[in-house]
Amino acid sequence: MNIPRINEITDIKGKRVLVRADMNVTIGTDGIIDDHEAWRIKRALHTITYLRDQGAKVIVVTHLGRDGASVQPIYRYLQKHITLGFVPQVTGPLVTEMVSAMGDGTILLLENVRQDKREESGDESLAVEFAKLADIYVNDGFAVSHRNHTSVTGIPKLLPSYAGIQFSDELDNLEKMLDPQHPLLVVLGGLKFDTKLPLIEKFLNIADYVFVGGALAHPILVGRGHKVGKSAIDENADVSNLINRDDIIIPEDYVLSNGHVHTDTIVDDHEKIVDIGPESLKLLETLVRESATVFWNGPLGKSDNFEGGTEKFADIVARHDAFSVVGGGDTISVLSKKGIEGRFGFVSTAGGAMLEFLVHGTLPGVDALK
Ligand code: 3PG
Repeated sequence: MNIPRINEITDIKGKRVLVRADMNVTIGTDGIIDDHEAWRIKRALHTITYLRDQGAKVIVVTHLGRDGASVQPIYRYLQKHITLGFVPQVTGPLVTEMVSAMGDGTILLLENVRQDKREESGDESLAVEFAKLADIYVNDGFAVSHRNHTSVTGIPKLLPSYAGIQFSDELDNLEKMLDPQHPLLVVLGGLKFDTKLPLIEKFLNIADYVFVGGALAHPILVGRGHKVGKSAIDENADVSNLINRDDIIIPEDYVLSNGHVHTDTIVDDHEKIVDIGPESLKLLETLVRESATVFWNGPLGKSDNFEGGTEKFADIVARHDAFSVVGGGDTISVLSKKGIEGRFGFVSTAGGAMLEFLVHGTLPGVDALK
């Protein structure tokens, strides 16, 4: 897509560059960020260090969660990788003072942007305050670019704006899924049906194979008259358009909580499906082998150990040649714990933003850079 990119910025040295990153990660109960959960922060470092190394004054803005928690755990994690300052405010006199004191090639992290209520309402007055702090705006937070928030869509109206390295990678790789090399295999799992339904419908028009697994398959099973016992299920799922589609592939066997492999259409009332079965994994391996492109989002079953179907499917994709794009927080955590992220074509850091981009072909934060 034709948008201005970070490598097109000239004369960076000495410029104040405000980077909207997405460092929204899981914080441990001890307030420490586990290295396996830090994948968004690590990816954001590429843009930050690129700008720093060119002599920019890099002002970093991120959100963390939805209740305005302090980004201090992120600051402490970043200190292990880079030298930077932190100001415990979003905007205001202290921030202005700290930014004025920045030298070339330095980095300053601001407090959680969602502590300012104007962020989520898209208030222009906040954009004006940010714009006074910087000469250039870089959006590297693709994962939050489905939000019409001030730091995503407001600031680019006021400053020369560019896509960061992670943002560009997300955009370019996800675009390939909309115009893929065929055959394309799409594998969708997870629980929340309503967020994935538009994607299932979209990919039924693009992909050669659409496999729906994990708890996402349960409403389809129920819609087709099966019994799933106590299995996890999105009660609000509307599967009416899908139950008769024979081009949706769903698992043919399951592992139940008692450890047995199940192939029947009836799961006892007291039992539940916890994982994808071995025959379904074999089928998936055949499809991966036949495909030029694989897109995968969402777990296929329990992923709390190294034996689950999600881990096994990750290994299958990793050892075949198809160009693979993988996304979704739960899925990435699995890859990160196994240390195999590098064996995929592209691992997206985005959750909801990725789904929305694939459904609509753009995002508010993408359009704001055009
Ligand atoms: C995410 O985790 O998907 C992004 O950081 C966006 O967070 P949000 O859903 O709270 O806007």
